Amino acid sequence: MTAEGKPFACLTCYDATTARRLARAGVHVLLVGDTAAEVVLGLPRTIDMPLEVLLALTAGVKRGAPEAVVMGDMPFMSYQADEGEAIRNAGRFLTEGLADIVKLEVDASFAGLVGKMSRAGIPVCAHIGSRPQRAAMSGGYAAAGRTAEDARSIVEDSSAMVRAGAKMLLIEAVPEEVTALVLPAVAREAEGRVVPVIGIGAGTACHGQVIVWQDLVGLTETPPRFAEPVADLGRAVEEAGRAWVDRVANRAIGGRGYAMRPGESERLRAGNTEDKSQTFPHPRMVEHKRGAR
Ligand code: KIV
Repeated sequence: MTAEGKPFACLTCYDATTARRLARAGVHVLLVGDTAAEVVLGLPRTIDMPLEVLLALTAGVKRGAPEAVVMGDMPFMSYQADEGEAIRNAGRFLTEGLADIVKLEVDASFAGLVGKMSRAGIPVCAHIGSRPQRAAMSGGYAAAGRTAEDARSIVEDSSAMVRAGAKMLLIEAVPEEVTALVLPAVAREAEGRVVPVIGIGAGTACHGQVIVWQDLVGLTETPPRFAEPVADLGRAVEEAGRAWVDRVANRAIGGRGYAMRPGESERLRAGNTEDKSQTFPHPRMVEHKRGAR
């Protein structure tokens, strides 16, 4: 799509059910972000995201949407401390997490690691600009590239990542002047390859755009300034919760109940319940479908 000049859509996603729906809606890339720490696990910071949990969530998203490009986000300390460990963890995203590509928050100093991952056969998306995993260094989540020096070093990061072999870039929370310099720098370094740049809070010029799903549908209470909701699912969820509370209170839970097999109700009332041993098929022989229960 980037080669044809068509913008592509990316959303964060953390479960199979939502993934299936989003793929059906035509969303091209599903990012299983470390934002799961906050929006799924209720942890205070993205650096609290456990690797094992993110691997499991990533696999769930791919199982829900096999046709989508699924991007696994490498959590804090899964790639910063040691290159061997980083490459093995990235590999786990492809094998156990079923991811198509892994994302790392990087600057130019990670070029060696990104090169080794690429040579090992691991497609990398280089996340540049604002890097939430480094929030402790600046006292919180903040925009990047707001000074000329910072903007220049982000452009250098983007070039270094493309030279290192990154297949995609993601640029977060920068003024559009920075994006306007990053895009031609990426195209120059790519030398004919197509290296799409996904933006989040980085203006409209990027090849793809991403946003946190919960921010898009109005589930989060304080979305970032660049995330304009398209729906108010927050209110819809609360209304559904209240409707269920009312149904339960009124003993009107809806749906269809179960009936006893013919004659069993009479036998039960007559006290005629001696063992009529039944054999059941092995559970693996039964097709488990939620709707069939
Ligand atoms: O973890 C995440 O969800 C992200 C997006 C906000 C880009 O990195």
